[in-house]
Amino acid sequence: MTCKAPLSIGVMVSGRGTNLQAVLDGCENGSIPGKVVVVVSNREGVLALERAASKGVPAFAVPPKKFGKWPECRPDYEKEVIRILRDHGVELLVLAGYDRLVGDDILNAFPSRVINIHPALLPSFPGLTAQADALAYGVKVAGATVFFVDPTMDGGPIILQEAVRVEEDDTVETLSARILEVEHRILTRAITLIANGQTRIEGRRVRILEATSSEKGCVRCSEE
Ligand code: GRF
Repeated sequence: MTCKAPLSIGVMVSGRGTNLQAVLDGCENGSIPGKVVVVVSNREGVLALERAASKGVPAFAVPPKKFGKWPECRPDYEKEVIRILRDHGVELLVLAGYDRLVGDDILNAFPSRVINIHPALLPSFPGLTAQADALAYGVKVAGATVFFVDPTMDGGPIILQEAVRVEEDDTVETLSARILEVEHRILTRAITLIANGQTRIEGRRVRILEATSSEKGCVRCSEE
């Protein structure tokens, strides 16, 4: 038995939004027991905003420069983002190709409720050039990671990971494309696990609970 109420998901993006699309599709086809209630981008005019709008999801561009110089403007920028997310009743915040570090204000507004997708097997290759860094290092196995965000860069407790082989003739583009398929799959799966109350954070470890253990009642509901 899982929670009856769909999880209200907010998504933060910066670019083309294929991970957002995977989440929108997962909610639509029922593989995610949730609903994307709002999308916020730190960049104007990006494809991700169009993807949201085409599904009728409220979408907002909030460029940090409206609030001053980065990083001094971060508290005011995040205050505005939090206001939008709260106004739409967000329960889980998904960073899907969002290219900034989130600050304490957002983390405190959604404690243990912010997740991120990263195109590498963390803790290897954190940062914005993960696939190129993995290739340059010469690893034979790359992959993707979904994790709960904490104040460190790409360092929070890991929910799911999946590996992909690095092929002899891989370029950054071909490797990134293969990793991206994995990203879409594990992001969808991680959100579903959270929506069903099947994740429990124990220090650095995220326990994945059996689906049957929520028969006693959904963890998400009993938290309220
Ligand atoms: C993905 O590879 C994600 O892991 C990284 O940035 C990329 C965004 O892709 N953080 P998209 O915007 O979801 O298509």
